[in-house]
Amino acid sequence: MAATLLKVRGLKVAYGGIQAVKGIDFEVHEGELVSLIGANGAGKTTTLKAVTGLQPVAMGDIEYLGKPIKGQGAWDLARQGLVMIPEGRGTFTRMTIVENLQMGAYNRDDDEIDADIEKVFGIFPRLKERAEQLAGTMSGGEQQMLAMGRALMARPKVLLLDEPSMGLSPIMVDKIFEVVETIHKQGVTMLLVEQNASRALSLADRGYVMDSGLVTMSGEAKALLHDPRVREAYLGE
Ligand SMILES: Nc1ncnc2c1ncn2[C@@H]1O[C@H](COP(=O)(O)OP(=O)(O)O)[C@@H](O)[C@H]1O
Ligand SMILES: [Mg+2]
Repeated sequence: MAATLLKVRGLKVAYGGIQAVKGIDFEVHEGELVSLIGANGAGKTTTLKAVTGLQPVAMGDIEYLGKPIKGQGAWDLARQGLVMIPEGRGTFTRMTIVENLQMGAYNRDDDEIDADIEKVFGIFPRLKERAEQLAGTMSGGEQQMLAMGRALMARPKVLLLDEPSMGLSPIMVDKIFEVVETIHKQGVTMLLVEQNASRALSLADRGYVMDSGLVTMSGEAKALLHDPRVREAYLGE
């Protein structure tokens, strides 16, 4: 069986008195695409933030590459390959595309950075066409592509994506999911958070369903996709 890269046990996260995540378990194995789905407010973003060191953990344990990481900062974790693409992209708007991609490699000092930029351009030809354009002048979909490209420049061992399709036009949504699949096929391990349950589960190996701070269902993604409870609650059937 593939190595467990990320293992979360009994995770609880609170904002003041509000319990947003109420004790959840999940894991991500090497090479997997795992989807975390659930309604708005279920606790998905909070979970990603806690895992990546952006939000304090109230209770529970997080292991990354077999070692406990609870309490480590986001910067340190990103340097170790635990990389999140936040909701709303977070590109450097006053830098060009190429500069944004170079920033993504801040954790590296090898001599393959330019070669990796070319690889990113291979996945996202549109970024190549606009290499010298300022990121802030691009459309939402293009900025999502840039955010993904920038994250890949860090050579992530686990890539966490928070709602990459949110707010995009249907054509862009298709494009983004296509790229998620491409990146997965290239061997990048991913945890994909999506409200678009149908698309996310179609692509994934396994899935978890979150509701009100708890994991209520989990299993093979295809099984979840065909589960009547999932279809009723998250696929509008
Ligand atoms: N910064 C915050 N301060 C207080 N409550 C928050 C904050 N962020 C999220 N919450 C609350 O935590 C719960 C989970 O939110 P979130 O993790 O963003 O859910 P999701 O990403 O699944 O939509 C919600 O009830 C939300 O209102
Ligand atoms: Mg969210």
